Amino acid sequence: MTILDGKKTANDIKDEIAIEVEAIKKKDGKIPHLAAIIVGSDGASMTYVNSKVKACTKVGFNSTLIDLPENTTEEQLLHEIDLLNKDNDIDGYIVQLPLPKHIDEQKILMQVDPNKDVDGFHPTNVGRMTLDLPCYLPATPFGIMELLKRYKIETSGKNVVVLGRSHIVGRPISILMSQKRPTGNATVTLAHSRTENLAAITKTADIIIAAIGIPEFLKENMVKDGVTIIDVGITRVDDHTKTRGYRLAGDVDFKNVSKKAAFITPVPGGVGPMTIAMLLKNTLLAVTKNNK
Ligand code: GUN
Repeated sequence: MTILDGKKTANDIKDEIAIEVEAIKKKDGKIPHLAAIIVGSDGASMTYVNSKVKACTKVGFNSTLIDLPENTTEEQLLHEIDLLNKDNDIDGYIVQLPLPKHIDEQKILMQVDPNKDVDGFHPTNVGRMTLDLPCYLPATPFGIMELLKRYKIETSGKNVVVLGRSHIVGRPISILMSQKRPTGNATVTLAHSRTENLAAITKTADIIIAAIGIPEFLKENMVKDGVTIIDVGITRVDDHTKTRGYRLAGDVDFKNVSKKAAFITPVPGGVGPMTIAMLLKNTLLAVTKNNK
């Protein structure tokens, strides 16, 4: 069994980005600039956004964090987005999800300039992705593909089962893996909460991508020997033996499933760091694209 080390791979990617950033600075005097908007004070979201900001520093990017209170109105948020769209120094930005319930997420994402949409969530980028056109790929699916690529895991002709149909992970990764592209050409099944006989389906999988947000959902008796497991889940589970009061759990029963797997991502240290690295990669793409 080989651990797919997302932390190390993400660090390799960040080192590569840092070299490119130096070259851009020398050539154009431009420092790539990523902004992030967060609304409210959800603990997990704040941790993720802070990690994204820290990663910017590591590769030599400028970063701006726009931290808005929970009671921010939709109108105020749309105004902040307009300011970022108009700000020529900002190359790309993200709106951290989920947003508070009183804000219409799709309305907000539609307002983001597709050229600065480094999360790849705007319908223009989703449509372009679906049609195999150049676009920003959403960072988590992009990170999964990059991890499979760097570990030379064959996907062509393989059975890939994706668990979960979210707009951020399940839906886009199911599209990407089926496309005629490197780390694609797979036969993809997208399973979800209404899927019947799930174990019979997951047992046929060469690669399982679990993105449902249910801790330790995927069990040993649901997978075949030699399977590759990508665990996207990262849920805070109460654990009073820890000083912080919780532990992080993936969607996969790692202890038992890893006995049968050929390759498996850990949680934490698997997909999470890759998501951040690919967000930086998209921001670099925004700089080079807009400089042309
Ligand atoms: N919430 C969970 N994952 C993501 C992500 O990749 N981007 C944003 N903006 N919010 C998220």
